[in-house]
Amino acid sequence: MTRKGIVLAGGTGSRLWPITLGVSKQLLPIYDKPMIYYPISVLMLAGIRDIAIITTPEDQPQFQRLLGDGRQWGLSFTWIVQEKPEGLAQAYLLARDFLAGAPSAMVLGDNIFFGHGLPEMLKRADQQPSGGTVFGYHVSDPERYGVAAFDAHGRVTQIVEKPKVPPSSFAITGLYFLDGRAPEIAARITPSLRGELEIVDVLEHYRAEGSLEVERMGRGFAWLDTGTPGSLLDAGNFVRTLQERQGMQVGSPDEVAFRQGWIDRAGMAERARLHGRGGYGAYLEAVLRE
Ligand code: DAU
Repeated sequence: MTRKGIVLAGGTGSRLWPITLGVSKQLLPIYDKPMIYYPISVLMLAGIRDIAIITTPEDQPQFQRLLGDGRQWGLSFTWIVQEKPEGLAQAYLLARDFLAGAPSAMVLGDNIFFGHGLPEMLKRADQQPSGGTVFGYHVSDPERYGVAAFDAHGRVTQIVEKPKVPPSSFAITGLYFLDGRAPEIAARITPSLRGELEIVDVLEHYRAEGSLEVERMGRGFAWLDTGTPGSLLDAGNFVRTLQERQGMQVGSPDEVAFRQGWIDRAGMAERARLHGRGGYGAYLEAVLRE
């Protein structure tokens, strides 16, 4: 079965209040694009075209205004509402009918990835026939994330959420490739002390049966944080620095769709026209002229 995508873009964004009192966190700009463009591009780089977008009831209309039905990028979007932020694993319950037994790649709508070899890494994860793949990334503050513990042979022995004493410096990023059983497994876990269905409990299930790959993203990759006003600004500056130096976009679904052959030249020209005289439209035109 072809893998389907999920972008989880709900939540209260409370750590960014007052910025996110009036607008969803995942619609905030990361330099020149809405935050959600970046995780959507990641799923597209993995070759995924059938994608569910999960938002709060209040924010869904704005996301729909921005993203439509996905056809502009050769994608199909299914819109799902999460009434309350009751945990990342709840996404699998909400998306159960959408997935209909298919394997999935879920990405958090506020996670930004960049790095040489990313498409190959994603394709490898996509090709895993069963079980799950997640990505470990070395950070200076693992206590803020899900963290993997390893034994002397480098095998994962545990995944823990926000441990006070982190067993390693490897955070588990918000990108989860799981097989078709994820909704059933999510249905069997119970809420944690903070009242959420925890993604780490789903991952622990896979790990315990020996079917969880924790692929390490090396130091050549950037996994950017957007959780605080400062890190949000840093992420924007990072994207700006790269884009201005290279003259190439990071996280443009338009470009990915065109290079994947999911939209043709006419479709891309239309997208460029739509963006008018801004830098993004000019970039799309330049890609067409290449
Ligand atoms: O970013 C990676 C980390 O994401 C992982 O290392 C952790 O294991 C994982 O629990 C998660 O940690 P966070 O502290 O970032 O979780 P947070 O509650 O902030 O939720 C992450 C995003 O998902 C956020 O943009 C809001 C959205 N969300 C969250 C919850 C709990 C939802 O859309 N629905 C929800 O129910």
